[in-house]
Amino acid sequence: MNILSGLSYEQIYVINSIKKICILKNIDAYIVGGAVRDALLNAKVRDIDICVTKDPKLIVESLEEIKEFKYYSEFQTASVEFKRGVSIDIIRCRREFYPEYGTLPKIIPSDINHDLFRRDFTINALAYDLKYYKLIDLYGGIGDIKNKLIRKIHSNSYEEDPTRVFRAIKYSIRYKFLLYDRDEIISCASKGIFKTISNDRIAKEISLLCTEKNWKDAFLLFARLNIFDLNCNLIGKSNPVVNYDHVNIRLLNLFYSFKDKRDADILVDNSIMDSDLKKSMMQLKNIDVENFLKETIDNYEIFRQLKNMSRYELAYLSWNFKLTYKIYNYIYNLKDCILCINGNKVKDFGIKDGKSVGSILRYIKKLKLNTGIEKDLNRRDIQNALEYKDRKF
Ligand code: CTP
Repeated sequence: MNILSGLSYEQIYVINSIKKICILKNIDAYIVGGAVRDALLNAKVRDIDICVTKDPKLIVESLEEIKEFKYYSEFQTASVEFKRGVSIDIIRCRREFYPEYGTLPKIIPSDINHDLFRRDFTINALAYDLKYYKLIDLYGGIGDIKNKLIRKIHSNSYEEDPTRVFRAIKYSIRYKFLLYDRDEIISCASKGIFKTISNDRIAKEISLLCTEKNWKDAFLLFARLNIFDLNCNLIGKSNPVVNYDHVNIRLLNLFYSFKDKRDADILVDNSIMDSDLKKSMMQLKNIDVENFLKETIDNYEIFRQLKNMSRYELAYLSWNFKLTYKIYNYIYNLKDCILCINGNKVKDFGIKDGKSVGSILRYIKKLKLNTGIEKDLNRRDIQNALEYKDRKF
């Protein structure tokens, strides 16, 4: 089977230039992982990984048309960006071992067979030999693609690298494949395997899941596999204020759906996610949403309470049905309300004291926010405003 037929002209051009160098330098080269999987699934191939049997530096030094490249000596991996808009990772074939569960693996250069064994799932442990144009499938990956299964390769795969649980969910929701290891994943989650990895690693996987088209299914799987205790009816809850096209809103929705807000620490305490989003989540932990703004129907009060809130805080509050239309009203009517008069105009009426000027302006704003009307300022309004001065509004 020639998997190259599913790639773009530019991708094939670059792969052939790598192949030529490999043949000249007596290096075996294989397309591996997601590119082979996606080509077999007739899905768009985005990232291409090529595994090679010598140091990738030997290839990169002879390559032409490189726009940029990075070399990671610890993993003997070169990430190459070509002028033709194609990116390829060239990776030394290796075997991996984990000194402890949850740590990053130590690597030893090796051959393609070991390299395929180190991988997460059978569907990702496929290689395409560039020299002999043949597929290598040591673990039944092609069969699992046909049978729509996500299946681990080696015995302690999830304990060694708990991020694979999130990866399994990602492929399962993306391709609508079944989780062959479902029971094992549930058991691993209940044993607390995620405690062996940092919040950063979990946050990264969750953020990646949120970029998937079927992100809601991922959250539902979190609940079904007991990874997080979630209010499933809150997942993807729609209202006129939120737009789920933004990944951060999806992350916020997960935060909103946690039954136990202690789980939220993963989303708040990491260096991966957007800092404004994390800051908003911190603030939200301290708001009693049920009672927030519940009683008030005064638009000025609504404005005052919401004016310093971020778009994330507003979206979060809007998921509470008692607040939805207050938030909506704030965003579309109240937020940008500007008075026609200013302090100088008030002073023209002989009011000199700054505090009184402020009170009068606030009073006029209160009237405008609640009635939609701003009349020309007159003595009567000033008088009313001054009577209000000592009241809290
Ligand atoms: N891999 C693994 N275990 C991990 C991460 C990655 O075994 N924890 C292997 C898999 O074989 C995977 C390859 O490394 O196919 C490349 O990883 P990545 O780029 O994350 O995945 P892709 O398969 O390219 O999938 P995606 O389409 O989501 O990018």
